[in-house]
Amino acid sequence: MLAMNYRGPRRVRIDEKPEPEILHPQDAVVKVTRACICGSDLHLYNGSVPDTRVGSTFGHEVTGIVEEVGPEVQNLKAGDQVLVPFNIACGKCAFCRQGLYGNCHESNPGATAVGGIYGYSHTAGGYDGGQAEYVRVPYADVGPMIIPEWMDHDDAVMLTDVTPTGYQAAEMGGIQRGDTVVIFGAGPIGTMAARCAWLFGAGRVIVIDHIEYRLDFVREYGPAEVYSYNEMDDVVLFLKKTTDWLGADVCIDAVGAEATGRPMQTLLGKKLHLVGGSATALGWAINSVKKGGIVSVVGVYGPIDALVPIGNIVNKGLTLRGNQAAVKRLLPRLVEHVKNGIIEPKKLITHRIPLEDVSEAYKMFSGKMDNCMKPLLIPPSGMTH
Ligand SMILES: NC(=O)c1ccc[n+]([C@@H]2O[C@H](COP(=O)([O-])OP(=O)(O)OC[C@H]3O[C@@H](n4cnc5c(N)ncnc54)[C@H](O)[C@@H]3O)[C@@H](O)[C@H]2O)c1
Ligand SMILES: [Zn+2]
Ligand SMILES: [Zn+2]
Repeated sequence: MLAMNYRGPRRVRIDEKPEPEILHPQDAVVKVTRACICGSDLHLYNGSVPDTRVGSTFGHEVTGIVEEVGPEVQNLKAGDQVLVPFNIACGKCAFCRQGLYGNCHESNPGATAVGGIYGYSHTAGGYDGGQAEYVRVPYADVGPMIIPEWMDHDDAVMLTDVTPTGYQAAEMGGIQRGDTVVIFGAGPIGTMAARCAWLFGAGRVIVIDHIEYRLDFVREYGPAEVYSYNEMDDVVLFLKKTTDWLGADVCIDAVGAEATGRPMQTLLGKKLHLVGGSATALGWAINSVKKGGIVSVVGVYGPIDALVPIGNIVNKGLTLRGNQAAVKRLLPRLVEHVKNGIIEPKKLITHRIPLEDVSEAYKMFSGKMDNCMKPLLIPPSGMTH
């Protein structure tokens, strides 16, 4: 089959790989019809995630058609059209039972933090991802959801990660009615977080980035007040000023380890890799939230030390929350929001690219070219779905 193949930092190509097989009685094999590229894939692409092995296939945002199921699978059968959440979760361990599907204790037994994630390095279990014609889906009765008849599959693929992650970013912020919410990052995740902040009762939503087309997009889609950090001397000072010097009630980091904006952090964390990523947006979030406020982190960081202003977390009495989104927990209510037109996830999709052109697709998305917000990779047989 055709599959994306990682060859080392900033080098990916399309290759022939063996088709995945049923390795466990609870597996399914899914024929992919859509696979997004995510901001999280850019951390892999840039070589920032430890143990990203040459030869692996990325891709954790997938829709497809069930091709084959293992003998113990009960909820799916060949021919079902499914969306596959990015978390690989057993559904039975102590963490899955609490709804912490991003922290399954079984799907990534070598780790103590994150659970298994499709196509996300051996630190997330070493599973191959879905930027391919087929993908193996473990615990097939737990993750995949049959796409309702009425749902556009472009909306469905956006329910595998972006929509639940943006929603959980807002949820973890503990937003109270009327709160000022500041979101760092106007990528798909920050944009969706802005939209969802209103659902939790925000009174004012501010988004910070430096890419004009993305700020323009979220200004309309959020809607949100938008500002470019390139046009201000001091982001934290600006945010204090605009909140009567109190600080924002809630700050959301939707950027993660690849942040720009402070040359020293960029040098140490992004270029030299002396610390675990460039925690610029997280630092701004901690420093511009009010005393006693909440910082919600969905931006992804490497597992080793990042330079964050920990002293301010203590001295300001902050609550810091973060996680990989628990997609399965959130799907029932998000499906309703899609049905009622409250969220409109597919509006974020800007590009449909043949899987064969995966290398160009990564270049475009990572370079923020051609006003790219969210690209879909379409395998040859997915063109008709
Ligand atoms: N926790 C989860 O479940 C989960 C799920 C999906 C994605 N993520 C993470 O969320 C983050 C965003 O994902 P995305 O797909 O939107 O990525 P993206 O790369 O498309 O967008 C990131 C945006 O952040 C902006 N940015 C860079 N430095 C900044 C700074 N200092 N302040 C404000 N904005 C800054 C960039 O210009 C870019 O527009 C990534 O770290 C990704 O790994 C987490
Ligand atoms: Zn993703
Ligand atoms: Zn589990």
